[in-house]
Amino acid sequence: MKLIDARKDYYRKLAHEQGFRSRSAFKLKELNQSYRLIGPGFYVLDLGCAPGGWTQMAVKLTGNQGQVMGVDLSFVEEIPHAYLIRENIENEHVIDEVMSYFGRKVNAVICDLSPKVSGNWSVDHAKQISLNYDCVKIMDKVLANKGNAVFKIFDGEYSMEFKDYVKKKFARINLTKPKASRKQSSELYCVCLGFIG
Ligand SMILES: C[S@@+](CC[C@H](N)C(=O)[O-])C[C@H]1O[C@@H](n2cnc3c(N)ncnc32)[C@H](O)[C@@H]1O
Repeated sequence: MKLIDARKDYYRKLAHEQGFRSRSAFKLKELNQSYRLIGPGFYVLDLGCAPGGWTQMAVKLTGNQGQVMGVDLSFVEEIPHAYLIRENIENEHVIDEVMSYFGRKVNAVICDLSPKVSGNWSVDHAKQISLNYDCVKIMDKVLANKGNAVFKIFDGEYSMEFKDYVKKKFARINLTKPKASRKQSSELYCVCLGFIG
């Protein structure tokens, strides 16, 4: 077995053993260990949350005092202590639903969106980055001052433009690839800390 496959299997097995719906949950865990995006008591908005691995991890990280809301085009099976809605994040009325659930601005916005991939990388990359801009529109309205965010990026020609766009809104940002992310995948994560608006 190749090292890459062994690692893929390792995270899948771990997710199964620990009751997480996706191995992606460990990407968020790892990002959180490095950057402390989410802490106990945080209000967290998870955009593109199906099947729910990140939402489950966010519930764990925020603890009893926290609140987590997940949004996805697809149906997501109930997750204890999380509020889930089936919506398209391209619709701006999602903002009203977010604000009415939390009743105040959130401490973190986490975005792991992927479009339905066509197999044409330039098209998939452009669509994925466009979804990230939609997330920023929501984030601008719902993230509290000094809040944190993370965006998955299908790396390609528009990545740096997106990075520069969000950079102005945060005290610190970093592009990173967690170990739980497959080496051969071109995804990166843009970690953003300290929202300044
Ligand atoms: C990689 S999955 C997310 C995995 C999730 N973080 C987890 O740990 O289980 C990407 C998700 O983005 C969602 N998505 C793509 N476009 C969307 C849109 N316009 N609105 C809402 N969700 C969208 C897809 O339905 C898909 O479930």
